[in-house]
Amino acid sequence: MIYLENSNIKDIEEKIKSYISNTKSFNINITSNSQDDTKNIALVFAKYLTNNSILILNGELGCGKTVFMSGIGEYFNISDKISSPTFTIVNEYDIDDKFKSVSKIFHFDLYRLKSVYEFLDEIGTDYFSEGACVIEWGEIINELLPSNAIHIDFLKDKEKENTRYLKIWRN
Ligand SMILES: Nc1ncnc2c1ncn2[C@@H]1O[C@H](COP(=O)(O)OP(=O)(O)OP(=O)(O)O)[C@@H](O)[C@H]1O
Ligand SMILES: [Mg+2]
Repeated sequence: MIYLENSNIKDIEEKIKSYISNTKSFNINITSNSQDDTKNIALVFAKYLTNNSILILNGELGCGKTVFMSGIGEYFNISDKISSPTFTIVNEYDIDDKFKSVSKIFHFDLYRLKSVYEFLDEIGTDYFSEGACVIEWGEIINELLPSNAIHIDFLKDKEKENTRYLKIWRN
C-alpha cells in the first residue's frame, strides 16, 4: 500500500480533485524525489478518475510515465497486470465493481505512433468515453483531446538521479 507522506501531494489533492472534473486552465508544479513519490502522486489522481478522464503523460524515456501508471494500477488492484503497451499501443483493464466511478482503464503508449492520422486509423477516439485513459507519449494527439484532458509533463533533473519535476496542466 502507498502512504501519502509528501505534504506537497496532500496540498494539491483538493486541486486535482476539482480539476479532474472540470475543464478549467491550471498549472501545478510538483517535485518527485523517488519512484514512490511518483506513485503517490498517481494515487491522488486514481482516487478521482471517472470513465471519461484522460491523463496525458509526456517526457523523455525513463522519466517515470509507466511508474505513474503503476501507481494508478496499485490503487485499482491491477498492478500485477500492468505492462508497457509499447507494441500493442493500448492495454485494457477491467476494474472491479467496488470502484464505482471507473469500470475500465485504458493504458496507451503512443511512442511508436508517427502521426495523429495513424492514431485515428488504428485506434480511434471511442476509448475516451469508455473508460479512464492514461496515455504515454500522448502529445502527438493533442488536437484530438477532449477539453477535460489533463497533461503531466515529466522532466528529469540533470544531476539527481531520482528527481523528476512534474508539471501538471491544462490550457
Ligand atoms: N522520481 C522518480 N519517479 C519515477 N521513476 C523514477 C524516479 N526516480 C527514479 N525512477 C526510475 O526511473 C525509471 C522510470 O521508468 P519508466 O518505465 O516509468 O519510464 P517511462 O517514462 O515510462 O519511459 P518510456 O518512455 O521508455 O516508456 C524507473 O526505473 C524508476 O525506478
Ligand atoms: Mg513507459
